Amino acid sequence: GLVSRKTSSIGLLIPDVSNPFFSDVARGIEDAASALGLSVILCNSDWKIEREQSYIDILKGKWVEGIVVVGARSPEQRLQSVLSDLPFVLVDQKTSQQVNCVWIDNEKGGYIATKHLIERGCKRLIHVRGPINSPSATLRHQGFLRAIQEFGATGKIIQGNFRFESGYRCLEQILDDGLPDGIFAGNDMMALGIIQAAQTMGLKIPQDFLLIGFDDISFSSYISPTLTTIRQPGYLMGTAGVELLHQQIIYGQGNPQSREYQLELVVRNST
Ligand code: RIB
Repeated sequence: GLVSRKTSSIGLLIPDVSNPFFSDVARGIEDAASALGLSVILCNSDWKIEREQSYIDILKGKWVEGIVVVGARSPEQRLQSVLSDLPFVLVDQKTSQQVNCVWIDNEKGGYIATKHLIERGCKRLIHVRGPINSPSATLRHQGFLRAIQEFGATGKIIQGNFRFESGYRCLEQILDDGLPDGIFAGNDMMALGIIQAAQTMGLKIPQDFLLIGFDDISFSSYISPTLTTIRQPGYLMGTAGVELLHQQIIYGQGNPQSREYQLELVVRNST
């Protein structure tokens, strides 16, 4: 229940609110929270574990009712121990049964994205993956490898970091080794960077290679070519996170829930 020293606010810890996927999630969180009379304190971890942990300390010092951690960098066990006295939920990550979570099947998403490229005729694929310590990036990578093996295509991995610039630079790196016929970018921001780099280099998508992203941010349907992607419902995932958190604030830590959302292949002109 409500403890008098606490303010009616929750903390939102997010890697980077300038990434439109996370802005959608944040929007869902804020709308759901304000409908419950809770205000939201926003903290950007900048994808850094140290910042995530220092923000957790700061939020605890502010007596928030609970915390929504989106795209966590810190391992689940670590979060569980630092947050043991506070309700929290992880959004964008599947957890053990001890922790509230809202998630999509990222391995399956990586598999579906890769299979789509292969069904469109690609045989030499590249996956530009997200950061090493991101569970969603690692699961998409695993889905890529599963499809490559199952359909007998060749695949290579390039390390990216989920930002636009990293997509841009990756294409330069990719060109050094010879052009693949399909690229699966681990998220849409990197795919947009790849589109921009391709334009600068005089390459055409989908004529020179096919490209698929992940997230379905709004820019992906405006850019030329429009981007094929795997859609995840960021706004709904945010509202669900607040629902689960609110239940835990009211009823206590007893019964954590896991809520899965479905992803969807959205086919556009880049494939
Ligand atoms: O675009 C940011 C990505 O990082 C999203 O795909 C999200 O799932 C995350 O983990």
